[in-house]
Amino acid sequence: MSLKRQSEPFGIRCAYATLNDNPFLAGDENSLIFESDGLVVIDQGLIHAAGHYNSLRPLFPELEIVQYQNALLVPGFIDTHVHYPQLPMIGSCGEQLIDWLTRYTFETEQRFCDIGYARRVADHFLDACLDAGTTTAAVYCTVHPESVDAFFAASLERGLRMLAGKVLMDRNAPAALLDTAQTGYDQSEQLIRRWHGQHRLSYAITPRFAPTSTPAQLEAAGALRSAYPDVLVQTHLSENPQEVAWVKSLFPERRHYLDVYAHYGLTGPRCIFGHALHLCESEWRMLSDSGSSIAHCPTSNAFLGSGLFDLETARSCQPNMRLGLATDVGAGTTLSMLKTMGAAYNVAQLRGNALSPVKAFHMATYGAAQALHLEERIGRIAAGLEADLVILDLQATPVIEQRMAQCSDIADTLFVQMILGDERSVRAVYSAGKSVKPAV
Ligand code: GUN
Ligand code: ZN
Repeated sequence: MSLKRQSEPFGIRCAYATLNDNPFLAGDENSLIFESDGLVVIDQGLIHAAGHYNSLRPLFPELEIVQYQNALLVPGFIDTHVHYPQLPMIGSCGEQLIDWLTRYTFETEQRFCDIGYARRVADHFLDACLDAGTTTAAVYCTVHPESVDAFFAASLERGLRMLAGKVLMDRNAPAALLDTAQTGYDQSEQLIRRWHGQHRLSYAITPRFAPTSTPAQLEAAGALRSAYPDVLVQTHLSENPQEVAWVKSLFPERRHYLDVYAHYGLTGPRCIFGHALHLCESEWRMLSDSGSSIAHCPTSNAFLGSGLFDLETARSCQPNMRLGLATDVGAGTTLSMLKTMGAAYNVAQLRGNALSPVKAFHMATYGAAQALHLEERIGRIAAGLEADLVILDLQATPVIEQRMAQCSDIADTLFVQMILGDERSVRAVYSAGKSVKPAV
């Protein structure tokens, strides 16, 4: 694969939009920055400066400029929960969570003992992420360490900031997909030592979910977290009522589902929980008091009939909750964060609330970076952050083009993109200042 490198420093002249605060706290208007004629200066993979073209240009008279018209420059999208090995089985029909796992997922994941196959799927997955404008994701691999090696090698080759981990699973799955508490710990530790902190890669300790780990394995995962406290922990929480009942029967001594994770030291900062749909009051409080993060997976929750995420309660118990959007492919039906924002809007409407485009945009960029504790590096257009950027084509389709002619402000522009946009809206993508999806 050959990547075009713009010689640095260089500038992108384009309208741009970015968050600089949490709109759930500060309000939409105080959180969004919009420059109708912006200049973003990129040097050594970082954003060196960003502002109005006329103000900034005189400070960089020699700067080579790439200009995009009828376009909007935004931070690269961040997917806070996705399974790369499930891309081959996306859109598998007819089941809810447990049957879907048994019938499709566990069958598919067995193929990832083959590192060549894993690498081919990782390549497809990353190319599809970039096509959708996603530059960072928190990724589940399979139980096989090879699946992690393949994924990180493919990410490294593209220079992407990615988080990923080997799934830990020592019961209630086919024998070919099981590790043990000890091998799961040892393999995860080797992978941390091999990959964590290499270039822009981070490891994520990944117990799949409580039903597929014995108490001994959850204890080992907690020990691993204590040994490597800057490593993310990712898992699933309370996605489906049948799953919640199963957890209750497997861990009768625990107060509720989240208490299982808390008991083994798997809650708190840098612990991110996918779904979080069927929670009691005490679980909401525990999530917020512990400083844990949530990955809201709207297309997946609809596809598996899992439920409607309660964003209002999440925000009312902690307006500052670290909460990002996620595709959760292969239960999720798209890798597009634009479509995922649109799906989050639909879910909020079904619960009787309208989600503003600024808040949805936050949960796919700055809020998602906060959910992964990466807000010092990515998620905004601001000096010092990594230059992961997406150019949205504001006239990507005839329907979008005619609707854009009616747009009066940036909030409406963002809304049109999230309701009508998809991969066709992504004209170009930069990762650490490097063009990874060339402009068309
Ligand atoms: N719960 C445990 N494993 C999975 C998975 O792979 N996908 C989803 N959506 N939920 C899960
Ligand atoms: Zn998932």
